[in-house]
Amino acid sequence: MSFSEHLARQQQLIDRELDRLVPAESVPPEMLHRAMRYSLFAGGKRIRPVLCLEAAYAVCEGVPGVETAACSLEFIHTYSLIHDDLPALDNDDYRRGKLTSHKVFGEAMAILTGDALLTLAFETLSKMDGVPDDRKTRAIAELATAAGTVGGMIGGQVADLEGEGKPPNAQLLESIHRAKTGALLRASVRMGAIYAGADARQLEAISRFGEHIGLAFQIVDDILDVEESSEALGKTAGKDAQQHKITFPAVYGLEESHRMAERERQCAHQAVGIFGARAHRLRELADLIVQRKS
Ligand code: IPE
Ligand code: IPE
Ligand code: MG
Ligand code: MG
Ligand code: MG
Repeated sequence: MSFSEHLARQQQLIDRELDRLVPAESVPPEMLHRAMRYSLFAGGKRIRPVLCLEAAYAVCEGVPGVETAACSLEFIHTYSLIHDDLPALDNDDYRRGKLTSHKVFGEAMAILTGDALLTLAFETLSKMDGVPDDRKTRAIAELATAAGTVGGMIGGQVADLEGEGKPPNAQLLESIHRAKTGALLRASVRMGAIYAGADARQLEAISRFGEHIGLAFQIVDDILDVEESSEALGKTAGKDAQQHKITFPAVYGLEESHRMAERERQCAHQAVGIFGARAHRLRELADLIVQRKS
């Protein structure tokens, strides 16, 4: 099966599981459930949950319930986007090709929708059946730390906002990107590996892979903001320069940013060498992350 066919199947698997996990729009509070579903099913690429599935596969075939754990990553990611787009943060009107949550449901409801998705992520993980308790606890801790303040997503978002307008600086740039985006991508593959029962050596290899694709992901996000159109991205292009964000193109220029993303891709491939052919799809995902146009 080609990679694009395989990816479409994995995305469908995730979409079905998300649909099962999120209360129907008819369940009160209806408006909130509508808003959760509006953002979740707006057409995200599902890169984080698919990374989780493929990391599990690299360690062991047929890991029960891993798609449920994978959905918790999409909940956290979607919550982070809803809040990232709020007027108090990046103030964006478009996301995933549609109006942002606060534009449709109002700011108060968008804040609550993010809160609800964040909470649902941990409810989902804690209620998983048939998973050894130690793996469950480790996965919950993994996600909480990656979404948190010290080196995690919220810490990165704070640094990103505080960095607006500051002179671009390579060290600050890398620490922002590793935290605001890299931490959740690293956790995506680590959670899959943890559910699959990875040993220390396997988890170490998966973690290195996650760090390389995590950094590559945000380098490319910054490049796309400069090179692509709003239509292609489904979100407003050119925002980073407008808001004087600290980005890879701002610090290194476009050409060097492309080279750096490519280096991270190659390092990601090397990191999962110990898995041989079983990491085939992980390597293809690393390629997608660097070569994508949206
Ligand atoms: C965008 O993430 C936000 C960043 C963390 C850079 P994605 O590019 O994965 O967005 P979706 O989920 O496909 O919309
Ligand atoms: C978003 O980074 C990171 C998180 C949401 C945690 P960006 O602000 O660069 O993402 P986009 O470009 O709006 O998708
Ligand atoms: Mg932002
Ligand atoms: Mg943003
Ligand atoms: Mg961006």
